Amino acid sequence: MDWQNAIRASKLREGKSKMVTVGSKILMIVNLEGVFHATEGLCKHMKWPLSWGGKIENGCIRCPLHQTTHCISDGSLVEWAPFPLFPPYGRLVGSMVSEKDLGIFETRVESGFVQVLI
Ligand code: FES
Repeated sequence: MDWQNAIRASKLREGKSKMVTVGSKILMIVNLEGVFHATEGLCKHMKWPLSWGGKIENGCIRCPLHQTTHCISDGSLVEWAPFPLFPPYGRLVGSMVSEKDLGIFETRVESGFVQVLI
């Protein structure tokens, strides 16, 4: 494992996220109140890129497709694919993939870059 540059720290405002590719991994870098976090970039449900419309709220990222929600700091699952609510279609969409936490990566800021330990 090694520290690798992910994004310039100045390019990511508070409350925002960006998709980046580091090595062979697609990651999401998030600035939460000045602290940078790195998670897997694709939703664990059906691989939607989380920065593309994902909503950051209360330290969590909610996927815009079926509303799966994960905690950004530790990747823990908060809610799995509750949308669409109309049964039985909603339950069917959620059950197509087994529930998982979101992978997270250690970060640091070095020479103006957010670096990720990969
Ligand atoms: S792809 Fe993200 S919740 Fe379904």
